[in-house]
Amino acid sequence: SAMGQEDAVRQELGSLHGIPLFKSFIEGWPQVKAFQARPDDLLISTYPKSGTTWLSEIMDMIYHNGDVEMCQRDAIYNRVPFLEMKVHEGPSGVEQLENTPSPRLVKTHLPVQLLPTSFWEKDCKIIYMARNPKDVAISYYYFYNMAKIHPDPGTKAEFLENFMAGKVAYGSWYDHVRGWWEKKQEKMLYLFYEDMKKDPRREVQKILHFLGKELAEGTVERILHHTSFQEMKKNPAANYETMLPAMMDHSISPFLRKGISGDWKNHFTVAQNERFDQHYQEHMAGSGLHFQME
Ligand code: PPS
Repeated sequence: SAMGQEDAVRQELGSLHGIPLFKSFIEGWPQVKAFQARPDDLLISTYPKSGTTWLSEIMDMIYHNGDVEMCQRDAIYNRVPFLEMKVHEGPSGVEQLENTPSPRLVKTHLPVQLLPTSFWEKDCKIIYMARNPKDVAISYYYFYNMAKIHPDPGTKAEFLENFMAGKVAYGSWYDHVRGWWEKKQEKMLYLFYEDMKKDPRREVQKILHFLGKELAEGTVERILHHTSFQEMKKNPAANYETMLPAMMDHSISPFLRKGISGDWKNHFTVAQNERFDQHYQEHMAGSGLHFQME
């Protein structure tokens, strides 16, 4: 209903086990918690704005041996359902997944401690992708502005403070990347957006090795071309422009916005950067994780 839709617009976040999250997602939590993974599910896990859609398109292309037409069969958010997604209209992520034939690709932004236990029990393969927090914060700020499910982001300076404090959807970036890193095991591949930007061929080879899959050089070439920022930006099956304008307004900021590393330099003041660096050092000390900021 019209009411239902207005409900989901610019609402304050709720809290799921201490993690700020959309209230409609929290309503659907019992179904997510009880989700039945299948042993051949592959989970794509990320903090928001870390390259989820990019990795999803790469994975769908790999699963379909570089068949471009096949990968335009539906929008990316239907080809790779979003596990914990629930809005008032349309099927939830869990419902979508129940109707998806195996082998399934599953998207989640959940922090590691909230992942439904079934994924561990079934020993599913997991690919985590992380991106440096300065670029995530800027990308997230623009996304908050264009995707109306989020509360009002306030000014860029205010948003940056909230991001550092973990008062944004999915909570603290620090806890997220560290939590998943600490769970890293044989069945998990931990990738970085910055590596993918620098040498996508090497990263795709890493993924293929992880999957135990081989593809012809020409196929890898086609995958790299089809999943480049420029190609994805003009691909209606990958660029989210098929979402209802009431949900995402691409005239405010496109979903595929810039697709580079180091854009934070165009946005952070010197003082904000110093503050952020100090906060970063405090929160990442001893993590064993290292992020390239450009
Ligand atoms: S979401 O909503 O959390 O699933 O968003 P997510 O897909 O994780 O992140 C969106 C950012 O990823 C950029 N992107 C890409 N960068 C490089 N190459 C390709 N192919 C690509 N596809 C998506 C997208 O532009 C967003 O980053 P920003 O910095 O805002 O441009």
